[in-house]
Amino acid sequence: MNISILGLGFVGLTTGLGFAKKGFNTFGFDINEDRLNKLKNHIIPFHEPHLKEVLGETLGKSFFLDVNFSEAIQKSDAVFLCVGTPEKEDGSADLRYLLDGIEQILKINTDKFQVLITKSTVPPSTVSNEVIPFVKEKLQKNPGRNIGFASNPEFLREGYCWEDFIQPDRVVIGVEDEKSKEILDKIYQPFGAPIHYVNYNTAEFIKYLSNTLLSTMISYANEMSMVAGAIGNIETQKAFHILHEDKRWFGQPAGMKSYVFPGCGYGGYCLPKDTAALISISEKNGFIPPILKANLKINHDIKPFLVQQIAEKAALESSIGILGLSFKPDSDDVRITPPKEVIELLIQKGYKNIFAYDPIANEEFKNHYPDIDITYLNSLEEITSKSDHLVLLTGWKEFKDRKDIFASKNIFDFRYAL
Ligand SMILES: NC(=O)c1ccc[n+]([C@@H]2O[C@H](COP(=O)([O-])OP(=O)(O)OC[C@H]3O[C@@H](n4cnc5c(N)ncnc54)[C@H](O)[C@@H]3O)[C@@H](O)[C@H]2O)c1
Repeated sequence: MNISILGLGFVGLTTGLGFAKKGFNTFGFDINEDRLNKLKNHIIPFHEPHLKEVLGETLGKSFFLDVNFSEAIQKSDAVFLCVGTPEKEDGSADLRYLLDGIEQILKINTDKFQVLITKSTVPPSTVSNEVIPFVKEKLQKNPGRNIGFASNPEFLREGYCWEDFIQPDRVVIGVEDEKSKEILDKIYQPFGAPIHYVNYNTAEFIKYLSNTLLSTMISYANEMSMVAGAIGNIETQKAFHILHEDKRWFGQPAGMKSYVFPGCGYGGYCLPKDTAALISISEKNGFIPPILKANLKINHDIKPFLVQQIAEKAALESSIGILGLSFKPDSDDVRITPPKEVIELLIQKGYKNIFAYDPIANEEFKNHYPDIDITYLNSLEEITSKSDHLVLLTGWKEFKDRKDIFASKNIFDFRYAL
């Protein structure tokens, strides 16, 4: 297996050295002559532990920096693009370096099948809507090339590049053809980590899912320090350290992961009112907290967004079966429960045949919301047989365990539970 790497920054150099360490013939290229010369002289051009030793071990043996570009590309089964994707003035990702790199590769003549792997971080849909059309257009002039595509986002952290790359927690590969998948499988099997094969867009999305969560958490924490500052007499640092002692951070049942998962919104007695109350006291003290306000708005907007999906598929005369009425599983609390708003929106849209079944919260819901005109049913079997469409709104274990009962029905799984 021969691999070429374009771009020898934090990601590309680590990737190249990682593959070389695993015994693959790896050819590294960079348009920055100074960077390349430093590397040829065993100098790592940035601070990153371990890379110098690995470079010393592999240079000239399995990692090569002086192979002719055409020869390397002609020999390569896989070409990894690890170039920069900086921000443009309008906020979009600048794909110039990526497309320039691809253009250089396509100028080389070879009929060998090779995979072009986008390892640089690129927004979801880039491989499908930018890279593949670009390659197709260029190949009109050079139709002999036999190219596959993949997206392989990188999750390493600066300062820990080597550890993160050589012992990844997971490998994500967006690939949509078998030949490319086989090559990537051979490259990544030696790393012994779970390998997730997904389509191109999903692979690209996972990288942004990760980075935007991190950036949102940081901005959230900073916003809260501003809320604390506005209210006054709050020991912010201490408060955050105590927050970190919450056992939900440490993988307990219903741990933090369950909060970083999509659904149909939060409800219950605490989160909605407490979010609203903190916004209110902060505003009274002169600071408008934008993330908290957006947080409440999203909790509202998710319901019409989901109901629209039902409206697009289910005729108004059809019967709709609501699975779950409590605000979360293992509770019969129906205060500010998302199913209430979803049902009201369905009624507003004109749906008349609405059934509902909750393992324990039917009575509570009926008592709390006597004006909501729906029919309560007593079992999963009954609601399945009476409904044309099912809408899962509470992630009860019963629904997951007994999903074979409604396997033949169209289901809107708005807790992503099945
Ligand atoms: N730095 C990180 O921690 C990190 C982590 C994960 C993903 N990423 C992503 O990986 C990509 C690379 O990041 P980086 O930090 O390694 O960038 P970097 O700027 O350190 O390195 C990019 C290298 O690509 C070279 N290059 C540009 N065009 C080239 C071409 N046509 N041929 C050969 N080389 C070329 C540049 O000269 C530069 O040395 C980015 O998309 C980034 O968002 C970065």
